[in-house]
Order: sequence, then structure tokens, then C-alpha cells
Amino acid sequence: MTAMDTLVSPCKRRGFVFQSSEIYGGTGSCWDYGPLGVELKQNIKRVWWRDFVQERPDMVGLDASILMHATVWKASGHVDNFSDPMVDCRECKRRFRADQIDETPWLHFCPATKGNKFTIPAGEACQHCGVRRTLCPECGKGELTAPRQFNLMFKTFMGPVEEDAAVTYLRPETAQGIFVNFDNVLQSMRLKLPFGVAQIGKAFRNEITPGNFIFRSREFEQMEIEYFVNPHDRVDGRPADEALHDQWIEACRAWFTRYGLTPDNLQLHEHARDELAHYAKRTVDIMYRFPMGWSELMGIANRTDFDLKQHAKFSGKSLTYFDEERKEHIVPYVIEPSAGVDRALLAFLLDAYREEEVRGEKRVVLHFHHELAPVKVAVLPLLKKRPEIVATAHELRTRLARRWTAVYDDTAAIGRLYRRQDEVGTPYCVTVDVKTVGDREKGEAGDQRVTIRERDSMEQIRVPLADLETVFTRLLGDAAWTDVAAAYPRAEG
Ligand code: GLY
Repeated sequence: MTAMDTLVSPCKRRGFVFQSSEIYGGTGSCWDYGPLGVELKQNIKRVWWRDFVQERPDMVGLDASILMHATVWKASGHVDNFSDPMVDCRECKRRFRADQIDETPWLHFCPATKGNKFTIPAGEACQHCGVRRTLCPECGKGELTAPRQFNLMFKTFMGPVEEDAAVTYLRPETAQGIFVNFDNVLQSMRLKLPFGVAQIGKAFRNEITPGNFIFRSREFEQMEIEYFVNPHDRVDGRPADEALHDQWIEACRAWFTRYGLTPDNLQLHEHARDELAHYAKRTVDIMYRFPMGWSELMGIANRTDFDLKQHAKFSGKSLTYFDEERKEHIVPYVIEPSAGVDRALLAFLLDAYREEEVRGEKRVVLHFHHELAPVKVAVLPLLKKRPEIVATAHELRTRLARRWTAVYDDTAAIGRLYRRQDEVGTPYCVTVDVKTVGDREKGEAGDQRVTIRERDSMEQIRVPLADLETVFTRLLGDAAWTDVAAAYPRAEG
């Protein structure tokens, strides 16, 4: 399995992810998406929104602001509870999460070997003197302070005066924007329970130990749904919140496999009581087999009526729903499928990566689902010395780019151009060649056909220029390559 660090350089080289502020030495905790990364990310968000919001009659969307009233975070419990225990090294001043300190290798100056320096694997004792780590794992010298709670919210000031009254926070989750708008959405859209509100947006957490590339960063993007349920209803003979929680877990798992994650690389993790967030009755994480081990891809929590009740209490506004059948006001329960866009992107990238052997040569391919692929079609001229070929290819790219992400590339020979598109996961290449445009000097008319090459099978078909929109509508829709290809002659590879 690919080590996470080995991803950083190919992701940069191919234009997926760059380190933030790299020319200033970078930051290990923020990342920028390059030209291909931004397309991939947008595609993930677009299909998520289409599948979970646009296509469902019980879902609506929202785009709340990142900066909210400071009381939101008191009511939500984040001011009091959203913290990690941290310890500081008295010598080198580095800071660590107390609960994760034994999960990294530690530096040891061993008294049994005249103070020789060793790096000892995480959680293990020194083989020479038998001691376990007590000092700073990084410098190996400093005593550590007792654990103190460190709030993960980024604090800032609203307005021109830096005073306590102006303190607010960058949101650490998009969820609260939905809870505080519960009544606005309910009334404006005349909704009936159960219904959900979805939001995609940035969130910020001042993680003590960010890392593992884009897996844990201080600025990240969430795709969250708050699905409101009447707790008095029953679904399949069970309380509605519990039954619908299970349905959402399955829907989310199916969504990831639909877009390419290998089912064996996914598993569920049921939170133990002491793992549950302060608002949750039950949480199940969908775990992905990342290079550093099984880690959370997304969480699906039953937040009960905790948030709506808290906001009603702190704001003095009623956040209830009138249950027509029972003629009573109730506070809905909420099921929260919460996914990280960056983690989803990382998992799709890892799962799509394959090294294959083709005619004795290594081929690197990103087998992205076509809906996620950053570029859908690459238009390639076989000979860049022939102006008619180049002009036709440019025209074609312009035509296709009205509907799909299409690129033109003539900076290498065709074999190299194909490999380059394979490496970034482009599902289709279109090649314009001499046969397409003909040869005026020899009095040969072109056949007005181009070659379409499919990434995974590397099969090629010859398709009339006039058919391209129809063909790509099918190929980039639900049609299988074999069904579409059957209608056209094969081209030689
Ligand atoms: N809204 C849940 C989370 O951000 O973890």
C-alpha cells in the first residue's frame, strides 16, 4: 500500500495538490488544490449534492456563513467541550496530543549504552535498558507538562475592535449553520418530517497534530447532512431515528463504493461510549484502509434533539415542529451523515491508483469513475506539424469543452500523451490523425472520423466527428463502453 508521504510529490507533479504557501517554506497543515485537484474536488461535491440533495424529495440545501454569532458555539457545547488534552515539552516547547503521544516513534538517549541515541517504535520499550517513554518523544530530553485541555476552535475578532466582546470563531463544523436555520428552512420550504438539510463548506480546527497529507488539516471542507426525524414515529417497527440512522449508514457506504472505493477497503466502526462526541447518542464511522491504517472517512451520528434544544435555550426562540397527527410540538431528532471532502478525495485517489504492465512496460493509471475524473476527454493531434490536424483538434476541444472538461495536448508523441492522460485518470482520449483530415496535396479527402481510446481497456474505435456529442453523452452518462463501442469499427492500437 502507498505510504502517505510518497503521494505528496506525484500529487504535486500532476497538479492535484500543492502545499499551501510553499514558496515561504509551506505549512504542514494546509493544502491547495491544483488545476486537476480542483476539478476532482468539484466533481466529488457535485455528485454528492446531486445524489443526496437534488435527486431526493426529502432534502434541501443551505449555504450558511462561516462566521456565526459567538453564542452559537456556547450553545453547541464547542466552547466547553471541543478540546483535546495536550502536553508541552518543557525543553523544546513542542506540543503533543496526550492521547496520541505513544502512537509515534520516540527518541531515546539510552543510559545502558552510554547515552547513545535511538529511535524506538511507537509504544515499545528500549531493547537495551527496557524503559518506556516518559520524556518528549521528539527531543528525547524534556519533561512533559501535565495534560491540559486545548480548544480546537480558531478564535478571531468580529469588527474593528479586538476586545472580548468581539470574539468569535471560525466554524469547526458546518452543522451549526443548519441547526440555527432550522426554523427558516422549515417555514420557507413548508417541509414535513422526516427531511434533511445539506451543506458543503469549509470548517476549521486548530489540530495539535495535523498530518497524513490532506487527511487531517486545519482548514478542510465538509459535506454534511442534518436529517430531521420525528422521534415518536416508527420505521420498520423501530424508533424512526434508530432505523433511519442505519439506513443512512448504508446509503453512505453504498455511495463511496458506487464511485469506485473497493468494498474491502471500507469497514464500519461503532463508537464506544467514551468515544462519543458530547452531542451523540450513537455514532458509526465509515473507515477506509488508508496507508497509515484504518481511519475515519466519515461519521454518521445520531445527535438526538441536543442541538435544537440547546439553541432554543440560548436564543429563546422555539425550534420545534408541529406534529399534525399527535397535535403536539416536538423537537426533532437529527441523524448527521458528515463527510470530509478532502478525505473522500484522498480515498478516491488512493483507490484509483494502479500500476499495470502493458506489453512489458509499466503503466500508471488512475482508474477514476468517469464522473469523478478531473478531465473527461483529452483531444490529441497525431502530428502537430500538420496545421489541418491541429486546427481540427483545437476546434474539437472547444466543441466538447462546452459540455465536459476537455483538454488539448500536443507536447509529446502520442504514446506519451496517452500515458500522461492515464496517469491523471482521463477516461477518454480523442485522436485526430491524417485519415481524419485527408491530404489536400495528394487529393485525398478526410474520412471525418477520429479515434476514441478508452482508458481502462485501451481499446480504440473510429467515430464520425458528427457523432461525438452523442457518443460522449452516452459514455459519460450510464452507458457501458462495450455497448457504445459495438456500434463502431475498431481502430488499430
Ligand atoms: N458535524 C460533525 C463533525 O464535524 O464532526
